[in-house]
Amino acid sequence: MSAGKPAARARAHANIALVKYWGKRDALLNLPAVDSLSITLDALTTETSVAFDAALARDIYVRDGQARPEEAARVTALLDRFRALAGSKQFARIETHNDFPTGAGLASSASGFAAIALAAKQALALPMDDAELSTYARQGSGSAARSLFGGFVIMHRGTDADGRDSFAEPLHDARHWPLKVVIAITEEGRKPLGSTDGMSLTAETSPYYKEWLRTQDADIAQATTAVAQRDFESLAAVTEHSCLKMHASAMAAQPGIIYWNAATVSVIDRIRQLRRQGVPVCFTIDAGPQVKAICLPDAAARVEAALRELPGVHRTIVSGLGNAAEIIE
Ligand code: PMV
Repeated sequence: MSAGKPAARARAHANIALVKYWGKRDALLNLPAVDSLSITLDALTTETSVAFDAALARDIYVRDGQARPEEAARVTALLDRFRALAGSKQFARIETHNDFPTGAGLASSASGFAAIALAAKQALALPMDDAELSTYARQGSGSAARSLFGGFVIMHRGTDADGRDSFAEPLHDARHWPLKVVIAITEEGRKPLGSTDGMSLTAETSPYYKEWLRTQDADIAQATTAVAQRDFESLAAVTEHSCLKMHASAMAAQPGIIYWNAATVSVIDRIRQLRRQGVPVCFTIDAGPQVKAICLPDAAARVEAALRELPGVHRTIVSGLGNAAEIIE
């Protein structure tokens, strides 16, 4: 890295929330209205380089080999915060690659903004601990704060108006409880309504939103204990409850938001059937139609075989738990 062109490259993994984040307490700073608890996935990876360059007239954002000016504004907004901290006016070339579908409810914004934040911090040599860095990643995408860490991660909504106490931190590393996640891909395209728009419509119009907020802390408490004690039954119960409650709140918005397709429902049904047969598996679903089946390691092959053969399931991805984001160059 030459002094004139500060650059760095980072790798981050996507994460999925077991207890969901849905709703913002401040849209500008991207402050979540609720705490959330996630697992980091080693099979969904983003690699991103950020190279600041005095010769550039604006940030150039290239994803999967193609310039994407329409996606650059969110990246520039985040990099502006790093530039302000570093006293730099240099724009950057950001090159990023996802090894999984982008914008389809597979948390590409989480791994994407975590990788950008880590690379930008490194390139500009900013002194910042991981918790503080997560407050920056959060400003790109709420769930990105969690992707900086490996294993089991908690995101605090915080109460400060400036968002300083709205950060993520690791609870247990991936070895604590090596769960597996089988992702059933039921659609490869981009989702119709992004999570930010879905959240604000839910907050403004859903009669269930208040109850969603009120009941969140109990879910976090149950999930935190279940994870600490490796109690799969309790974790399965609260994970499905949080997921269904989030989607029910969104479905009750006006107009109703339905992220699912027919295959999403078939996969839910099959997972519940497997659990009745004694297989330790449960589901969660984000702002898209893919279903993530979470299971104990020994059950992964059986779960994967069962989901892969369902009509409407295009393919499956099997993941273990991933480590924290890291600098790779
Ligand atoms: O990080 P965002 O703004 O894309 O929101 C993520 C919201 C969900 O994925 C639906 C839930 C979560 O906690 O990850």
